Amino acid sequence: MTPMEVLRAEHRLIERGLDVLEALAGRVARNMSLAPEPPRQIHAFLRDFADGIHHAKEEQELFPSLLDHGAERQGGLVQMMLAEHADGRAYVREIGETVTLGLTSDESRERFVVAARAYADMLRHHIVKEDQALWPLAERLLPAEAMAELDRRFTAHAESNAAARAQWERVIDRLIAELFRTPRTAAAG
Ligand SMILES: [Fe+2]
Ligand SMILES: [Fe+2]
Repeated sequence: MTPMEVLRAEHRLIERGLDVLEALAGRVARNMSLAPEPPRQIHAFLRDFADGIHHAKEEQELFPSLLDHGAERQGGLVQMMLAEHADGRAYVREIGETVTLGLTSDESRERFVVAARAYADMLRHHIVKEDQALWPLAERLLPAEAMAELDRRFTAHAESNAAARAQWERVIDRLIAELFRTPRTAAAG
């Protein structure tokens, strides 16, 4: 996979995580009972995979290369992405605090719902901007040698993060299966 294909694939996993986050927010908003594990797990996924692996790789590897090759003259998209990563960290901290409080009081439940919905909405738009504008810009701006260097660095990340990535895919698969399983209907006849 090219570096851009790697980032796109990670976006698809993050979007599935956001599906889980929004489903949990919907349940909390409707005062449904909730086991403590799913909110803890989705918070850990957002902190350790979406931010700790994906955003960190964008910030440490891709964005500096883009800025080195003139991206700041293309409408400030990299600066916008950095600002949105920072906003996202504040939302994830807020989600983490409310999850630690146990989502037992009206106040912590309300804070969780507001932060979860705002984060999911912001990050979905952020992902669209990267997929539709920033990655095509990177493919235009970066010369072959810079793209090859990025490829080497992404391969090193992939090797060190392979186990974590596989573990997060299993966690998200399981949460989606739990939250979105359709009730079995009685067989006709
Ligand atoms: Fe990003
Ligand atoms: Fe991204």
